[in-house]
Amino acid sequence: MAKILVTGGAGYIGSHTVLALLNKGHQVVVVDNLFNASYESLVRVQKLANKSLTFAEVDIRDKAALSQVFAQESVDAVIHFAGLKAVGESVQKPLAYYQNNVEGTLTLVEVMKQHQCYHLVFSSSATVYGEANQPPYIETQPLGNPTSPYGKTKAMVEQILMDVAASDQRFKITNLRYFNPIGADISGDIGEDPNGIPNNLMPFVAQVAVGKREKLAIFGDDYPTKDGTCLRDYIHVSDLAQGHVDALNWLFNQQEGCCEAFNLGTGDPLSVLDIVRGFEQYSEQKIAFEIAPRRSGDLPAFWADSDKARSQLQWTPVKTLQDMMVDTWRWQSKNPNGY
Ligand code: NAD
Ligand code: UD1
Repeated sequence: MAKILVTGGAGYIGSHTVLALLNKGHQVVVVDNLFNASYESLVRVQKLANKSLTFAEVDIRDKAALSQVFAQESVDAVIHFAGLKAVGESVQKPLAYYQNNVEGTLTLVEVMKQHQCYHLVFSSSATVYGEANQPPYIETQPLGNPTSPYGKTKAMVEQILMDVAASDQRFKITNLRYFNPIGADISGDIGEDPNGIPNNLMPFVAQVAVGKREKLAIFGDDYPTKDGTCLRDYIHVSDLAQGHVDALNWLFNQQEGCCEAFNLGTGDPLSVLDIVRGFEQYSEQKIAFEIAPRRSGDLPAFWADSDKARSQLQWTPVKTLQDMMVDTWRWQSKNPNGY
């Protein structure tokens, strides 16, 4: 078993991945500045796993503090979630996004090198395929040109990590391209807890169900899709978390230096209306909605070709639409105000 340092481990995907790592018997060191998370998520993770972890409240851009964590812990690999992720906000505050996501990663990789830690799993996004590529997105397609500064930071970091791996054969890196993570741990004790008005579909639907929002605005019903609403590849966050455990195993088995991209999606596109109806069916809650104008920057449809992750990482997503809906509702109804 290994010691894994998880940046951003108190956040939504991070907390589920930390739980999966502890359940596999790994030791975990979380580095998080708690900018978009609460330490309570990690209290609950430790309770669920019945194991403890080490926590450092550190900003990854603080090189001295980060270096001190690496000096104290003998880290075998890093999973790097820390960063900012709101697409709209990134248009308003591009510098904050380049600083956190790009500069933060540069600092992290420098410190890893200083401490001879060469295994890295990076949180990328399907957004790196940009508008140029046709779905299903496959890893052999070139990086696109994402429109938002957020998307650009993900494409830039992927390119930086490819250059790092090419320059030093000791580095073994995976760029995991997430599609649309939703759902929550089956316990309902950890989940997605957005600040303010949710930008993403699933937390918005869940907040309508629990009475925190009056109705959902569906952004456009005139797309060239089966019901006119956009198609996405929704992936249960616990399947996504398992993808990180599988990516780590794969990295530990590589003989040569590498930097490989993997799509983490189910490969099954669902429309916005599929999600609304699925949630109503499995949670037995009514979701009030109205059709609103299209949201700028939305693509009509994208989903993953996930064969590479399935065959090479031996990753098998097992959760169904019903699991995604039931688990979202369990988390939201047990924690109407989040953590
Ligand atoms: P999140 O905001 O819940 O988690 C990010 C965590 O990083 C938070 O706990 C935050 O406090 C921490 N953090 C931010 N900046 C930091 C810094 N400078 N130093 C230390 N900690 C910092 O987001 P999430 O949904 O769990 O996403 C995790 C990662 O996955 C992000 O990199 C995100 O861009 C990427 N991603 C997310 C999605 C999604 O739909 N949630 C999709 C694709 C990619
Ligand atoms: C968004 C980001 C993407 C990022 C991902 C995960 C944009 C354009 N893209 O993806 O870069 O990687 O989040 O953080 O923001 N919808 C509604 N009403 C709502 C919210 C969403 O109808 O209130 C629709 C959207 O138009 C879209 C679908 O639901 O068709 C999914 O939206 P969302 O959850 O925001 O994810 P993406 O837009 O796919």
